[in-house]
Amino acid sequence: MPRAGGFFAAHGPRPDSRSARHAGPGQVAIRDAREADLEQIAAIWNHEILCTDATTDTEPRDQVAQSEWLARHTESYPAIVVVAAEDVVAYGSLSPYQPRRAFARTVEDSVYVKRGRRGAGLGSLILAELIRRAGVLGHHSMLARITAKNAASLRLHERHGFYRVGVERESAFKLGRWHDVTIMQRRLDGIRWT
Ligand SMILES: CC(C)(COP(=O)(O)OP(=O)(O)OC[C@H]1O[C@@H](n2cnc3c(N)ncnc32)[C@H](O)[C@@H]1OP(=O)(O)O)[C@@H](O)C(=O)NCCC(=O)NCCS
Repeated sequence: MPRAGGFFAAHGPRPDSRSARHAGPGQVAIRDAREADLEQIAAIWNHEILCTDATTDTEPRDQVAQSEWLARHTESYPAIVVVAAEDVVAYGSLSPYQPRRAFARTVEDSVYVKRGRRGAGLGSLILAELIRRAGVLGHHSMLARITAKNAASLRLHERHGFYRVGVERESAFKLGRWHDVTIMQRRLDGIRWT
């Protein structure tokens, strides 16, 4: 499927930043991910795969796997990047929550910010754009599956209207221990679940 390509927005400091820690993302642009971004995306992601429990994935992605990942992110399930000049400083994507057809309009998000650039609003920038696009694309709700001790991701999603809807107890084993996985969800039509 074709990709929209091209830059469509540039952002300065976050207007709603509440914390001095957040200087804002600076001069960055957000756009669809391209083949040329894959090496930088892999560098961000593979570190999390190998060294942290931010993702429950365990196998680093080589060039072929990265290309396959991009190919899976068609127009209905976009992959996007935030770039500062030529540097990919954050990326995110939407994926079908489940392969069964009944779940086609329920999407799962993924958000990763380059180390050294965290806490400056880039995760918020990516997640806000994924929520916006998911709504435009006609998806109904968005879920995030977050290892339960990932305070940054839990807070990020809470700030963007996600509710905790469940906890999988010790469903993931990584780096020598079991992890609970928190499931957070929000609707995309503006209606809030209580
Ligand atoms: C989780 C992640 C995407 C957040 O992105 P970020 O750019 O650092 O976050 P932002 O600066 O946009 O901050 C978003 C919110 O999270 C909070 N936050 C950020 N880092 C935090 C931390 N380490 N602990 C607690 N809260 C944190 C911010 O204060 C902000 O909340 P606020 O608006 O109420 O102040 C980023 O830390 C990251 O890439 N982590 C590793 C990969 C990962 O965990 N991905 C998610 C997998 S589910």
